[in-house]
Amino acid sequence: MTRGPLPRLVTERLVVRPPGPSDAARVARYWRANEAFHARSSPVQREEFYTDAFWEERIPSLAAERRRGESLRVFLFDPREERVLGHASLTRITRGAFHAANLGYSLDRRAEGRGLMTEALRALLAHAFGPMGLHRVEANHLPSNRRSAAVLRRLGFRREGLARDYLLIDGRWQDHVLNSLTNREWIAPGASPESGRPPRRGAGRPSVRGRRRV
Ligand SMILES: CC(C)(COP(=O)(O)OP(=O)(O)OC[C@H]1O[C@@H](n2cnc3c(N)ncnc32)[C@H](O)[C@@H]1OP(=O)(O)O)[C@@H](O)C(=O)NCCC(=O)NCCS
Repeated sequence: MTRGPLPRLVTERLVVRPPGPSDAARVARYWRANEAFHARSSPVQREEFYTDAFWEERIPSLAAERRRGESLRVFLFDPREERVLGHASLTRITRGAFHAANLGYSLDRRAEGRGLMTEALRALLAHAFGPMGLHRVEANHLPSNRRSAAVLRRLGFRREGLARDYLLIDGRWQDHVLNSLTNREWIAPGASPESGRPPRRGAGRPSVRGRRRV
């Protein structure tokens, strides 16, 4: 199960939350309007991905994935929650000795260059390292994706290496730069003073010791 309440993260300029059934049309519109803009950094999608009907079915299945603790997919809404400005996802959530997830994200073309993704991901990462109890978030980008690299740098991610032929993007297997952010103040889920692992001050926030604070 996903730990903590259903997230509704309110930042200075955004509401960041999972989509509800009434969001299907605006989510479909977001993907449709940005099909060309996202093409170079995304897998090729089938035609139906861009339809309202697809999202009417997909949104409940995303909620089920979230309840099973497998993923958390959110959209970035304007403060009135009328328009989708972007998306972010924590997928491949793995527990056991890993407590890790993979981060993906995209913006509406017209929302680029305003700091909105960094703002949204700061809130999402605080949620991931706080209520969700994750220890590690991985995020990867094409070597040529300068803007994506800059977002991760601003958030304190460390570059870990280059994976050859890593993802099928825009119809081709492409190398990706691997990055990660870990929470050095992670404590075991459910740990309490009685268990010998008392929660520490600041626990749940991404540690950026030795780096610029996010
Ligand atoms: C990757 C992507 C999300 C980055 O978007 P972005 O707008 O550059 O990222 P941020 O939200 O962090 O914004 C930073 C930019 O906003 C500017 N900015 C303007 N006002 C700002 C403010 N109030 N606060 C912070 N930054 C601000 C910054 O200067 C920076 O612009 P610069 O790089 O030209 O200097 C976007 O390019 C995108 O969606 N690309 C297509 C999909 C994609 O590549 N996804 C990632 C796959 S790995």
